[in-house]
Amino acid sequence: MKSLKVGLLGIGTVGGGTYTVLTRNAAEITRRTGVAINVVQVADKNIDHAKAITGGKVDVTNDAFAVVNNPDVDVVVELIGGYTLSKKLVLKAIENGKHVVTANKALLATHGNEIFAAAQAKGVIVAYEAAVAGGIPIIKALREGLGANKIEWVAGIINGTTNFILTEMREKGLAFADVLGEAQRLGYAEADPTFDVEGIDAAHKLTIMSAIAFGMPMKFDQAYTEGITKLQQTDIKYAEELGYRVKLLGITKRTEAGVELRVHPTLIPEKRLVANVNGAMNAVVVKGDAVGPTLYYGAGAGAEPTASSVVADLMDVARLSSASVEQRVPYLGFQAGQLNDLPI
Ligand code: HSE
Repeated sequence: MKSLKVGLLGIGTVGGGTYTVLTRNAAEITRRTGVAINVVQVADKNIDHAKAITGGKVDVTNDAFAVVNNPDVDVVVELIGGYTLSKKLVLKAIENGKHVVTANKALLATHGNEIFAAAQAKGVIVAYEAAVAGGIPIIKALREGLGANKIEWVAGIINGTTNFILTEMREKGLAFADVLGEAQRLGYAEADPTFDVEGIDAAHKLTIMSAIAFGMPMKFDQAYTEGITKLQQTDIKYAEELGYRVKLLGITKRTEAGVELRVHPTLIPEKRLVANVNGAMNAVVVKGDAVGPTLYYGAGAGAEPTASSVVADLMDVARLSSASVEQRVPYLGFQAGQLNDLPI
């Protein structure tokens, strides 16, 4: 039996969910891939917590570089978030010839161009399904399922925390600040919830989707980003009286002049499907020239939904690591050297 040895960086909400799904569904996963996928080492700053989750069955350290430099580790799963340490760890893992699975949209939106170039040069896989829309397989849909299309636009609710806040404000009449605490308690919010409520997290995800949809480099610094912090109860109430729901949308669209990349609160007629996406759920609509509009809906945040995507990526690595580099799907779905530097 072939095996894939995993080094896990971070065993918080998503890391814990990943460990649980991998162990609970191990037999099914192996039957599907023909590979036994095992976590062999975990790094977390809270050693006791890491030991409690893994039940003492896995080597635990508080030194993330020990995992990245561990010769027994085939694939590093980066779930610590942030840009600085995570970038160093991911680049070191790539330099060491290890595959990488990450849920870190901030890292990819800001340093993805460099990370994918390094991975390409080294011939390793960087998989990131969990970085956008949690458990919805939107990366695979954009890159592979819709690969025959010229994508015209992508629009959606891609931040669970803000959608949860807007839903609670509308349904229960609660104030913004009261609901944010609940979203944090439920494990939806980023470590720094400013990223959620100011639209930055959605802009990270939109940047990644636009790169795949239009075959262009990541251009997060050029995205228009507006969050929900200025919205008040009265805005939501008046919108409802007029037959609309307020949703934080990410929209990216190909135009004659280049590409639009924007995140902002939007009024949506209440009968539309997207207007009825509530709580921490996400929904993404993709319009392709051949297929027309398609809709993807599901849990956009939370431990096991996000873990579902992380583990699916590990299964891809298990299947593809023995294929030649040419046989693997390119990171953004376009061959190296084939990206367009479209203006925003
Ligand atoms: N904070 C993010 C959200 C987590 O609320 O959508 C999932 O990316």
